[in-house]
Amino acid sequence: MQPGILYGIGVGPGDPELITVKGLGILKRVPIVAFPAGVQGKPGMAQQMVAQWLNSSQVQLALSFPYVQDNDILTQAWQAAAERVWQYLELGQDVAFVSEGDVSFYSTFTYLAQALQQLHPKAVVQTIPGICSPMAAAAVLGIPLTIRAQRLVVLPALYTVGELEAVLDWADVVVLMKVSSVYEQVWKVLQQRGLLEQAYVVERATLPDQVVYAGLRFRPNLKLPYFSVLIVQVTKSPN
Ligand SMILES: C[S@@+](CC[C@H](N)C(=O)[O-])C[C@H]1O[C@@H](n2cnc3c(N)ncnc32)[C@H](O)[C@@H]1O
Repeated sequence: MQPGILYGIGVGPGDPELITVKGLGILKRVPIVAFPAGVQGKPGMAQQMVAQWLNSSQVQLALSFPYVQDNDILTQAWQAAAERVWQYLELGQDVAFVSEGDVSFYSTFTYLAQALQQLHPKAVVQTIPGICSPMAAAAVLGIPLTIRAQRLVVLPALYTVGELEAVLDWADVVVLMKVSSVYEQVWKVLQQRGLLEQAYVVERATLPDQVVYAGLRFRPNLKLPYFSVLIVQVTKSPN
């Protein structure tokens, strides 16, 4: 028997309507829909986003991915998730793994797909892209993310302030993902460089409780949720 296909579907930043037509078609027809399990018993972000598109005959599979840095623990979790998915694939059933944003952009799907193909080389994986959070944030703010020959840098997380300084020396536009835990340090660097008026934060972009801060001058201590992204226009865009 031919194994089923594992689809990785990027379901966009939050608004359920920001999924692609292709992703929605696959999502509605697969028998199994998998997603990262939420924390503390709550449904995860991707699970909530696709809930309205699913029907009661579809199996919903919550896969646990611990929020830790330990590589051994993470590898074990990816392999365990891959084996759970394989149980369905080997019976010829297709599985859609949904992930918020895009599935190739800092997404757990990459590790799941790698683990699956290492453990079961016959497995077939297809990726359906989605709208990632920096693009959604720019749309919400009503600004272009980049124009002309501007150089864009995305920092997935900030480990040292020096790293941010180096990037600000080079880039025209900087996007900081996972900014919530380092916001105050980032604010100080932007203040020293006179960039606070050209910096923006979007919390929970495109969701009903989205919050926008356009200009950060009077906001040194924002308490941001995990789903927040910061954009700095280092070089003022020419009019
Ligand atoms: C593990 S990354 C996942 C990125 C995701 N795959 C994407 O395409 O945007 C998680 C980070 O993405 C950003 N993020 C994702 N969705 C967001 C949203 N709706 N609003 C603001 N930031 C978001 C936040 O910076 C969050 O800490």
